[in-house]
Amino acid sequence: MIETKNLTKNYGDLTAVDNLNLTIKAGDIFGFIGPNGAGKTTTMRILVTLLEPTRGQALVDGLDVCKQGKEVRKRVGYMPDFMGVYDDLKVFEYLEFFAAAFGIERSKRKSIVDGVLELTDLQSKQAATVDSLSRGMQQRLGLARVLIHDPKVLVLDEPASGLDPRARIEIRELLRELKRMGKTIMISSHILSELEEICDHVGIIEHGQLVFSGTIEEIRPRLGIHSKVRVRVATNQEKAVELLSALPQVNQVQALGDDIAVSFNEGQDGDGIIARTLVKADLDVISIQPERLKLDDAFLQLTKGIVH
Ligand SMILES: Nc1ncnc2c1ncn2[C@@H]1O[C@H](COP(=O)(O)OP(=O)(O)OP(=O)(O)O)[C@@H](O)[C@H]1O
Ligand SMILES: [Mg+2]
Repeated sequence: MIETKNLTKNYGDLTAVDNLNLTIKAGDIFGFIGPNGAGKTTTMRILVTLLEPTRGQALVDGLDVCKQGKEVRKRVGYMPDFMGVYDDLKVFEYLEFFAAAFGIERSKRKSIVDGVLELTDLQSKQAATVDSLSRGMQQRLGLARVLIHDPKVLVLDEPASGLDPRARIEIRELLRELKRMGKTIMISSHILSELEEICDHVGIIEHGQLVFSGTIEEIRPRLGIHSKVRVRVATNQEKAVELLSALPQVNQVQALGDDIAVSFNEGQDGDGIIARTLVKADLDVISIQPERLKLDDAFLQLTKGIVH
């Protein structure tokens, strides 16, 4: 649905996007991750026809963003990283304004606006002024706005920035719903862990270059990251360490105070096997806690040293 071929954008001497080759399949949620200044916004603005590339090509739904801009714009909804706030405009007026701007007939506008308000759970706020909304609600309004012309592709520049954990979860749920509706979604973030649960694929960009592209699961072996579990037993920690060390799936076992840190071999996983082993040996298990894959650490490793 989205493809870039050697996409390059120079600002004077600075190469903001450097021979970028991206492919995003229809129906996927693609996480576009990179530190400040990596070139995420620049790439997104090219994809939504707001910026011309210096070299290379970008296609949306098979259409060239430079040559078929008008057609591309019908298919994409773009949520910029910074949205202007409109004083004294009510939520439904704001959405009706955009419906008009997208050329939607007057008679259809109300039902479309009602539909996006329902989807983004903003019905109760429709008569509130836009500038009175909380940041989380403003982000949802931004999403409501990009959905008005029912685009196939959503390009969302850091929609979760500045949101509290609850609002982040709400946005995530909304994105899942949009995926179920068949949308293709490209979403940027600085934080890999923020996107790990919803993305089918991620692309990591640094200095305008793609340093990794693949599924979250593919990042793990690439970085040699082992999944880890913390185990605590009531008594006989030594025995537990011995038993766990003997498991073929296990790479390393280490007693850390009351805890036992277990690291699995690549591609292996399983609190189940640990529980079964300890219970079979009649050891009293207090807790078995998986350590989440430290994606942010992975990200730092991946981008470390790629400084131009
Ligand atoms: N209009 C511009 N003129 C000159 N340089 C620019 C312009 N826009 C962006 N840049 C530069 O291009 C590089 C990429 O910027 P871009 O905004 O695409 O990064 P980003 O990944 O979106 O960063 P952030 O995470 O901070 O939003 C940066 O070095 C930035 O300073
Ligand atoms: Mg940006």
